[in-house]
Amino acid sequence: MTGATLGVGMVGYAFMGAAHSQAWRTAGRFFDLPLQPDMAVLCGRNADATAAAAQRMGWRHTETDWKALLGRDDVQLVDVCTPGDTHAEIAIAALEAGKHVLCEKPLANTVDEAKAMVAAAEAAKAKGVLSMVGFNYRRVPAVALARQLVEQGRIGEIRHVRAVYLQDWIVDPEFPLVWRLQKDKAGSGALGDIGAHIVDMAQFVTGDRLTGVSALTETFVKERPLPEASSGLSASGSSERGEVTVDDTALFIGRFGGGAVASFEATRFATGRKNAIRLEINGSAGSLAFDFESMNELSFYDGTEDPGTAGFRRIYVTESTHPYVGAWWPPGHGLGYEHSFTHEVVDLVRDLAAGNDPTPSFADGLQVQQVLDAVVRSAESGSSWEPIAGED
Ligand SMILES: NC(=O)c1ccc[n+]([C@@H]2O[C@H](COP(=O)([O-])OP(=O)(O)OC[C@H]3O[C@@H](n4cnc5c(N)ncnc54)[C@H](O)[C@@H]3O)[C@@H](O)[C@H]2O)c1
Repeated sequence: MTGATLGVGMVGYAFMGAAHSQAWRTAGRFFDLPLQPDMAVLCGRNADATAAAAQRMGWRHTETDWKALLGRDDVQLVDVCTPGDTHAEIAIAALEAGKHVLCEKPLANTVDEAKAMVAAAEAAKAKGVLSMVGFNYRRVPAVALARQLVEQGRIGEIRHVRAVYLQDWIVDPEFPLVWRLQKDKAGSGALGDIGAHIVDMAQFVTGDRLTGVSALTETFVKERPLPEASSGLSASGSSERGEVTVDDTALFIGRFGGGAVASFEATRFATGRKNAIRLEINGSAGSLAFDFESMNELSFYDGTEDPGTAGFRRIYVTESTHPYVGAWWPPGHGLGYEHSFTHEVVDLVRDLAAGNDPTPSFADGLQVQQVLDAVVRSAESGSSWEPIAGED
């Protein structure tokens, strides 16, 4: 640890605000960092609620307008933890003001917004101002290990990618119309919220990109009570109802540039499944399987072994040699959801100090947005085959 600090100003203090606060609080205490994160300013719209959140989560100052962060000398990085309809405006203004940006996923609500954000990120990069989009699941150690094994050629040529992200928090038709169910706020439904994660994870682990998709989407519950109060994934409803303007589920098949075929399923209607993220990749020499409900484990089948004794082995990803794990606990003492955000922040701080371009970049976020856009176009036109812009 050195005396140099990175002043952080964070916008939003609910679900992701809490996860990012935990990351900023922890990163420099477990990892050796070239810059010590300074939790300088928390920004929200309600002064009392923001002050209470700052007190609880460890922020020194508060603001009630994100624009105030842009002129503050104690803020070098703006962390955007607000709904998608605000990402482009906040991130572009912050980059133009010379602040590094960490922006939650999905990067934006539309491809056009994402393109504007990439343009701002490119212009800022020329001045040493850097940016990252928060696809945190890449930094679960088992997922990072899967990437390493693919890079080492341990599963050979990739043939199949199978990815699902299953939740059930809106199965009840009386669950209210929170911002995640409104297109103008969220861009899309299960597709952008959780489908974006499995698109990024699948492309990250394979080191390859989708070139085209054919999709199906559905909105099972078309009207819901208007929310009285809401935060994160919980809310209470009023007697008035409004239209659900996003998908409840999105399914699609796709092709990767390297020849693999893929299937994806993102849903908020998988009754009993809370946050089930599963990724299986079959290659010519082996297979890998990850299940977030057992997030400290990675299944690996080595197809080069004697068939008499070959089988899926359960790698318990808690060795100090596994990605990120050495900074934490002795072998066998597992990690949790929140550690993925700490790892995100650690990599970001190290890249900022070294002047390296952090990943996933805004350009990576735009490419995921282009996949989501192709899924929507396909679903709207009878599951037509839709090439991904820039990948054909
Ligand atoms: N990486 C992940 O696993 C993950 C998980 C959940 C959400 N997300 C993403 O994080 C973002 C936020 O989601 P969330 O679940 O934290 O939502 P949330 O509803 O829990 O919190 C949103 C916060 O933003 C604040 N806010 C909204 N508009 C604002 C504005 N104009 N100015 C200042 N503050 C404003 C709200 O007051 C609240 O504090 C979204 O982009 C979402 O997709 C990512």
